[in-house]
Amino acid sequence: MTPEPVVPQAPPTTRLALTHRPRRLRRTEAIRSLVRETRLSADALVLPLFVCEGRGVRREVASMPGVFNLSVDEAVKETAAANADGVRSVILFGLPASKDESGSSAWDSDAPVQSAIRAIRREVPGALVFTDVCLCEYTSHGHCGLLDGETILNDPTVNNLVRMALSHAVAGADFVAPSDMMDGRVGAIRRALDDAGFADTGIMSYAAKYCSAFYGPFRDAAGSAPSFGDRRSHQMDPANVDEALREVELDLAEGADIVMVKPAVPYLDVIAKVKERFGRPTAAYHVSGEYAMLKAAAANGWLDERRVMLETLTSIARAGADIIVTYYAREAARLL
Ligand code: PBG
Repeated sequence: MTPEPVVPQAPPTTRLALTHRPRRLRRTEAIRSLVRETRLSADALVLPLFVCEGRGVRREVASMPGVFNLSVDEAVKETAAANADGVRSVILFGLPASKDESGSSAWDSDAPVQSAIRAIRREVPGALVFTDVCLCEYTSHGHCGLLDGETILNDPTVNNLVRMALSHAVAGADFVAPSDMMDGRVGAIRRALDDAGFADTGIMSYAAKYCSAFYGPFRDAAGSAPSFGDRRSHQMDPANVDEALREVELDLAEGADIVMVKPAVPYLDVIAKVKERFGRPTAAYHVSGEYAMLKAAAANGWLDERRVMLETLTSIARAGADIIVTYYAREAARLL
């Protein structure tokens, strides 16, 4: 046996001659908050609401605890409660009573979304109302547009998206938010809004929307899963970022006021590049699957929900998002 080598004793000096001690700025909460670079604010949050038929309906979505299908009267209450929490903005999704091949209930002026826009306008005057514009919740096949066999037709779908967006503007939406990923839809919607006298209705385009498995719980909430195939022929390949910048550039050229990246956390690099390159109002959608993951881990006691929620939303803002669409909007606002 060879003897253990003797470890030399460290010298007793403990003062290092350091010019920089970054820890000085982390010493107390007062100092940390003084030098904080990203300040999350309830003003930046948008709460998604799923509006259905009926009265007094408040049906929880199984894969999204704390998220509900709401009838119009309940959607109004939820918007008012969100406002009281400091969240001024909601984005509406519709669960129509009937679906058909072309998704025609999407532009029905008495459908849940159009009715909810009018009711919110009337009863919660301070609220900002965004509406999702896509046909997948309205078509019998669950695809985002008109089909020829299994192919989603671009230009005829854009015509229907325009009708849908116009019906939202007529009902009083502040912003329409096309999430369909058809080519040219932002320009077509902008022209139609202007021609119809809605020059002040804004467009928040889902500009870089990826074909993501994180939308799963949303499709439970909205009943919008495709009956066959997937959305790869129009939503983006998760591997691409140059293409995201081209999509954003096109939507801005076509008249988008706000551009969105979706999902958020797996695409923080995309958010950062979009903000850096274009410097325009940039939104990010913290989607249903991102929310469900945190909820499930929290329910198991595996994560501290408040902390992971605020850390997640802060990271999205730090990446460059000015606006965050999130199911956590109310919970986060109450803590801010
Ligand atoms: C409609 C739409 C979807 C989402 C927003 N708008 C679903 C999809 O593209 O399948 C997803 C939102 C979420 O997962 O929270 N096309």
